Amino acid sequence: MNYSRRNFLKTAGIATVGSVIVPNLAWASKTPWTSNSDTLKVGLIGCGGRGTGAAEEALNADPNVILFAMADAFSDQLETSYNSLKEKLKNKVQVSGQNKFVGLDAYQKLIDSDVDVVLLAAPPAFRPAHLEAAVNAGRHIFCEKPFAVDAPGLRRVIAAAKKAKEKNLSLVSGFCWRYHLPKRETFGKIVNHQIGGILTAEATYDTGELWFKERQKGWSDFEYQLRNWLYYNWLSGDHINEQAIHSIDMLQWAMGDVVPLQVTGSGGRQKRTDPKFGNVYDHFAVVYEYPGGAKAYFRCRQQNNTSPSYAVELVGSDGKCVVDCRTGAHQITGKNPWNYDDETKFTDENAYKRSQSRSMYQQEHDELFASIRADKPMNDGEWMTRSNLVALAGRMAGYTGQTITLDQALSSNEVLFPENISWDTRYDVPIAIPGVTGFK
Ligand SMILES: NC(=O)c1ccc[n+]([C@@H]2O[C@H](COP(=O)([O-])OP(=O)(O)OC[C@H]3O[C@@H](n4cnc5c(N)ncnc54)[C@H](O)[C@@H]3O)[C@@H](O)[C@H]2O)c1
Repeated sequence: MNYSRRNFLKTAGIATVGSVIVPNLAWASKTPWTSNSDTLKVGLIGCGGRGTGAAEEALNADPNVILFAMADAFSDQLETSYNSLKEKLKNKVQVSGQNKFVGLDAYQKLIDSDVDVVLLAAPPAFRPAHLEAAVNAGRHIFCEKPFAVDAPGLRRVIAAAKKAKEKNLSLVSGFCWRYHLPKRETFGKIVNHQIGGILTAEATYDTGELWFKERQKGWSDFEYQLRNWLYYNWLSGDHINEQAIHSIDMLQWAMGDVVPLQVTGSGGRQKRTDPKFGNVYDHFAVVYEYPGGAKAYFRCRQQNNTSPSYAVELVGSDGKCVVDCRTGAHQITGKNPWNYDDETKFTDENAYKRSQSRSMYQQEHDELFASIRADKPMNDGEWMTRSNLVALAGRMAGYTGQTITLDQALSSNEVLFPENISWDTRYDVPIAIPGVTGFK
């Protein structure tokens, strides 16, 4: 990593509030933008819905950033993303033909190109390899959640995140609620014991079904699965890991990022049973037991025509807290009542105003790029991998029907994502059955 260049890049106005680096957005009014030697070059790996969104946010996070390279398993995905970004962001998108990389090794070619920052947004199974390669090459990283689909993959991510810290690289996770200012205010109070010690918690991610891509002529089994990666646990880690992990992460935040001791639960496929939906479950319900005796009741489902819920409710010795992602509620009742919407009770007088105008997705990138400019690397590695472990342990408990300790979960040797993948490999898709499927 060439730090002399990084030092030269410390030009954007940066203000630091507490430990959070706040970007100065005064540049936003300056036009037109021109590329120069301060330019940060961004590479996008995984050009789907989220990756395209992340690229837009990265390009809007700093006055002097360009999209320099793109990588995807499929050229149609890459071109759709490129065209949409080019239309919106014009000359900030400068991806030449030779910097468009397609295929399963596209990520490495992108990382080896002259990029400063990579955005990792391919399906989760690939994340350990992509993250390791980015860290090895000395790139700053935005890394979508989740980070692995199995414990061996997660152990690689833990090691790579540690290495990123040693190399002074920024690593920002896609756990976007951690960058949502109202939730920072609220969970900040919880961590500071505003409702006392937490006794019980309920966390939910109950939603409907997601997209599905019909099989096209010429698609191999592998391509079909990769294009429908959500439905294959070897690619997504199942929906408790892929989607509902947002609620698990908020729960972990409230619990001070202490991992539970063990988890017991259940899950299955009741509604989404067609073989076209691979081998993932459509519901899980698990109970996490934390050191000190607190219990967290967590459930998630992806079933149409069912009541939605996306919330965390905490009961403490001195009160209760409700954070509801659907209604926007952030409320504490009990000894020290507080409501996010009551501006006068803010600890930081600017936080409310800032939060009104900031999208959490934009905030992630604003902080990432501000940290690079300020040469003050951020590293979400520790807590982000803990939340991933908690999600994986919940899946293991659901799949096996057994009580699983978090130590067991972390040392599991079950490999869902095979080492050497290729376009013509056939992957079995066994569906786990509680009481039959064993813990490995
Ligand atoms: N933080 C959030 O709120 C949020 C929201 C949506 C998705 N996500 C996460 O972002 C990631 C991507 O989700 P998405 O909704 O954009 O999915 P998507 O299917 O729209 O995009 C994934 C892209 O990765 C490409 N891809 C597949 N294998 C690849 C490989 N080996 N190398 C490079 N590219 C590859 C696909 O072709 C596709 O273009 C997932 O991890 C998902 O959990 C996060």
